[in-house]
Amino acid sequence: QWDGPTTEVYSQIGTPQPDGSIKPRLVGSFPVCTPTEAMEALDAAVAAYDNGRGEWPTMSVAGRIACMETFVGKMLEQKQRVVALMMWEIGKNLADSTKEFDRTVKYIYDTIDSLKDIDRAGSRFRVEEGIIGQIRRAPLGVVLAMGPFNYPLNETYTTLIPSILMGNTILFKTPKHGSLLHYPLLEAFRTSFPKGVVNSIYGRGAVVVPPVMQSGKVNVLTLIGSSKVADELQRQHPKLNRLRSILSLDAKNAAIILPDADLDIAVKECLLGSLSFNGQRCTAIKIIWAHRSIADKFLEKFAPAVSALKLGMPWTDGVQITPLPELNKVDYLTDTIRDAEAGGAKIVNDGGGDYAGGLFKPAVVYPVKDGMKLYRDEQFGPVVPVVAYDDVEEFIDYLITDSHGMQASVFGTDTKPIADLIDPLVNLVCRVNINAQCQRGPDTFPFTGRKDSAEGTLSVEDALRSFSIRTCVATKET
Ligand code: G3H
Repeated sequence: QWDGPTTEVYSQIGTPQPDGSIKPRLVGSFPVCTPTEAMEALDAAVAAYDNGRGEWPTMSVAGRIACMETFVGKMLEQKQRVVALMMWEIGKNLADSTKEFDRTVKYIYDTIDSLKDIDRAGSRFRVEEGIIGQIRRAPLGVVLAMGPFNYPLNETYTTLIPSILMGNTILFKTPKHGSLLHYPLLEAFRTSFPKGVVNSIYGRGAVVVPPVMQSGKVNVLTLIGSSKVADELQRQHPKLNRLRSILSLDAKNAAIILPDADLDIAVKECLLGSLSFNGQRCTAIKIIWAHRSIADKFLEKFAPAVSALKLGMPWTDGVQITPLPELNKVDYLTDTIRDAEAGGAKIVNDGGGDYAGGLFKPAVVYPVKDGMKLYRDEQFGPVVPVVAYDDVEEFIDYLITDSHGMQASVFGTDTKPIADLIDPLVNLVCRVNINAQCQRGPDTFPFTGRKDSAEGTLSVEDALRSFSIRTCVATKET
């Protein structure tokens, strides 16, 4: 029930205008919380946790799992609505929106299984120095969860679901784009869990989140978004060293193509890696380093493959490039291209950078060099910078001096140069992909980053551990 103010949600999947732009289309509206209402939602989470004495944090693991299974059943009933809203709100194509929904359901079941394993291991007793110990995992308190627009369901749930399952109570703020799709699921939360366990707030983050953080009542901040926002939110907490942060943030994942790489594999993986969902993935390959001896050959194959990607509306069969949900993104991307051109780089694929009917044609820019925006900026969109290098040390120096540290990809055939790169790389980023694109999945693999890219680890088991603490009941043997 809501009788307060609402805000209208416009989709960029609107009506094409004669000047090539798009007239946004109204797809719905959602409530705008006032700071007072955000605090009421927070207080509901605080009351439900009740300093660890609430119904939820004291419920058995089996009880919590039963509630979660009820929730998934209700979630499945909403699949069609959620997928349709995802296409409209963020422009993700039908296949990928459906995949995001299904992946999230699988993620929930995998997390339930992993919790059963953790619980089984924890219920064993051990005796040391005459003390019988039962080690168990316990909740941390109230979690503020904020998800991103690019995976509004899946990534929001990769923090929400493990936090809930570990007995915490939650306040979650829906993303700016991808808010409406949470609506059909709120009722499922409300009717599957005890009162106050899952609370949501809608509205502008800059208005509704600061009072929540400043209250000092949030025990865990989990955000998938930018490091700038994470820093700001952490600063708002009155006792930063009492706050646990689980964050997945900016990234500039780099791929290196060694001189002996199989170029067909490199092209296929870099295409998917850099341009799936218009390059709007934290794990996207955001810069490609091609050895100077093969850079032209690589581009001869890569540039036409990029130009051949199908542009269109998200529900069109086989469409790969769709409208960008962020209004100012086209100007920003065009600016990065102009900046690179001013430094001597060029767009090397047909039609790259063209904008018509609300669709931005992906651009491959070469040769990108230090000093250009595309060299360091996380462009988070369909522009692929390519660098020519002579020595792998240049690539390693780039990663050392970069402020990010999420993933890297290495393409090559001979195992020795690849093996020589793995150790230095794995200590600079958190996942090295061999002859494969950067990506988060499988979801059971650890997902994290170094420097400005992350804090804490997500995935299935790692997330359950991140959102809980190891405690123990110790009884003296008599
Ligand atoms: O945007 C960041 C996501 O974690 C990317 O996930 O690699 O499965 O597309 P993905």
